[in-house]
Amino acid sequence: MKNFTTIAELRDARKNWRQAGKTVGFVPTMGNLHNGHLQLVREAKKHCDMVIVSIFVNPMQFGANEDLDAYPRTLDADQQKLMSLDVDALFLPTADIMYPKGLDQQTFVEVPGISDVVCGASRPGHFRGVATVVTKLFNMVQPERAFFGEKDYQQLQVIKALVEDLSMDIQIYGVPTEREASGLAMSSRNGYLDEAQRQTAPALNAMMMSLREDILQGERDYPKLETKYSADLNAAGFTTDYVSVRHARTLQNASAEDQELVILIAAYLGKTRLIDNVQVSLS
Ligand code: PAF
Repeated sequence: MKNFTTIAELRDARKNWRQAGKTVGFVPTMGNLHNGHLQLVREAKKHCDMVIVSIFVNPMQFGANEDLDAYPRTLDADQQKLMSLDVDALFLPTADIMYPKGLDQQTFVEVPGISDVVCGASRPGHFRGVATVVTKLFNMVQPERAFFGEKDYQQLQVIKALVEDLSMDIQIYGVPTEREASGLAMSSRNGYLDEAQRQTAPALNAMMMSLREDILQGERDYPKLETKYSADLNAAGFTTDYVSVRHARTLQNASAEDQELVILIAAYLGKTRLIDNVQVSLS
């Protein structure tokens, strides 16, 4: 596996692969790789000749009081995992390479509408940071295909919208969420949980699936369901950020007539923010 730290080295390799007629798949990550990330790599390997992974903990997508400094950095273990999957190249830009003029002077990309609701409302500026870094990474890597986890459902919709709105010639693949046996969605942030919180965490998924079942059984008063399940999560030991039933593509509040829905949940256990989602098709 080649390790690139500069854009020039990366572009050089990319040029050679293009000349050799190879398709390139890209998996952007912030490192601390778990099976969810590795599943993205496996999927990329199925669809592309060459696979590039990036690791960059993007300061632009963290709020002032969020966990940028504490975010787990496990480069050696990450490299081992990627090598075991035969990844062709790992791109490791620094913040100076990504944002040479500093964050304040950086041109940004903002996807209106879907960036402002649910997680975007709770984490102002987060999706601007994601959209900007992903656009920059796409310009650096120039992949034919890029792979993102459905675990970050809103992020996936934001990226699909930015690719469409900016007429990028990149195919975006959403890869189903990897879960622990308990149903807990795999996430780098699960590592922050203590033993007691680990016992509680799977209830997030269990309640989400119960809400899904209520909808499948015919319940259409979504605000009532949101209020009930928010209270149930709080009673189980979480601090609920939101429980929201949305239109699966626009992410606007679902109406009783909508057929394609997504349930989005965010809740804290202590200081750790957990998210999960599931789609519901009524058609
Ligand atoms: O999902 C992530 O790990 C990050 O948001 C991404 C897409 C790598 C952008 O920093």
